Amino acid sequence: MPVITCIEDLRRLHERRTPRMFYDYCDSGSYTEQTYRENTSDFDQIRLRQRVAIDMTGRSTASAMIGQDVAMPVALAPVGSTGMQWPDGEILAAKAAEEFGVPFTLSTMSVCSIEDVSEHTQKPFWFQLYVMRDWDFVKRVIERCKTANVSALVLTLDLQLLAQRHKDLKNGLSIPIKPTVPNLVNLATKWAWIRAMLGTKRRSFGNIVGHVEGISDMTSLAIWAAESFDKSMDWEMVKRIKEMWGGPLILKGILDPEDAKLALNVGADAIIVSNHGGRQLDGALSSIRALGPIMDAVGGKVEVHLDSGIRSGQDVLKALAMGAQGTYIGRAFNHGLGAMGQAGVAKALEVIHKELDTSMALCGRTRVTDLDRSNLQVPEGFAGRWA
Ligand SMILES: Cc1cc2nc3c(=O)[nH]c(=O)nc-3n(C[C@H](O)[C@H](O)[C@H](O)COP(=O)(O)O)c2cc1C
Repeated sequence: MPVITCIEDLRRLHERRTPRMFYDYCDSGSYTEQTYRENTSDFDQIRLRQRVAIDMTGRSTASAMIGQDVAMPVALAPVGSTGMQWPDGEILAAKAAEEFGVPFTLSTMSVCSIEDVSEHTQKPFWFQLYVMRDWDFVKRVIERCKTANVSALVLTLDLQLLAQRHKDLKNGLSIPIKPTVPNLVNLATKWAWIRAMLGTKRRSFGNIVGHVEGISDMTSLAIWAAESFDKSMDWEMVKRIKEMWGGPLILKGILDPEDAKLALNVGADAIIVSNHGGRQLDGALSSIRALGPIMDAVGGKVEVHLDSGIRSGQDVLKALAMGAQGTYIGRAFNHGLGAMGQAGVAKALEVIHKELDTSMALCGRTRVTDLDRSNLQVPEGFAGRWA
């Protein structure tokens, strides 16, 4: 087994093992990928403040997200088609998260269904909902979540339509997949992946196929998916979904202080400062840059989480010290999964936990909940002086 020291090691293994089209699907942003790049490079601009001669015994990364205890405030983000990176990927990632003591969020566009994940885990998990034009589907999904003991609904607001990812088009990643010559040539080098995928029945969108009338195969699914995101979604619909769900609601995709205030008005339990990992509005601010002004706008009246660009425990530390109460990793756990299955997701969490714990200690803190701006050196004007 190779020595894994960081998320980048897992990324390389993931790239080597997985067919190009699925690896690229994960490791890409929209259009020029500017926001995708800046999500990580902006973290690098913030420095950690080294403090010495402080008792660092008895440390703890334990915390809470929306009132639920977590071993560290790092949840697994909803990532569509995770089950194409590794067979039964969502089930395996959920198990790894459960064992580690952090929340797992299942995507609407997952391969394994709500019921699959529920059957294979003991503790409640979170479910991410896209607002679809088919309201019967939305209602039924919410009911399925209640039956499956889902403990929080994450409503994604930044994807009423899909931004373009050039790599997906070039790779012919569509429903159904286009068997182009380059795809077939690349696939021929990925025997371990093919063998493993042949061992599972789960190779489609488990929350949709068999749950939407008339969708029984890839062609009918393609037609439904192309038409399905509700472009008319607005704050009134958010309120309607909140009522239908009745449980903890997290609003994902907030990047502007004005939207953060509107999220506060609809009574969200938490917001996720996110640009969808740089996959939607290319040219938007990185999440870490957007965080400060949003913290100021909400003034502690709603819990604030952050995702997009986290690749290390140091990044988690920076987000927490800037005021976020929780964070999420998307690609970091998918790299682990694509590299080594469940053990790889566990490894990704372990790596991030160790980095967070060590860096926190070297900053002179023993509890993640005590981290604050005094632990950082943030360049002047980091939030941006935009006209
Ligand atoms: C391959 C991929 C698929 C994604 N699918 C979804 C999805 O189905 N629903 C959603 O709300 N966000 C989705 N996201 C966004 C993630 O939830 C999260 O915001 C993002 O991955 C965070 O950035 P990071 O990957 O840099 O950690 C996806 C991200 C990736 C990389």
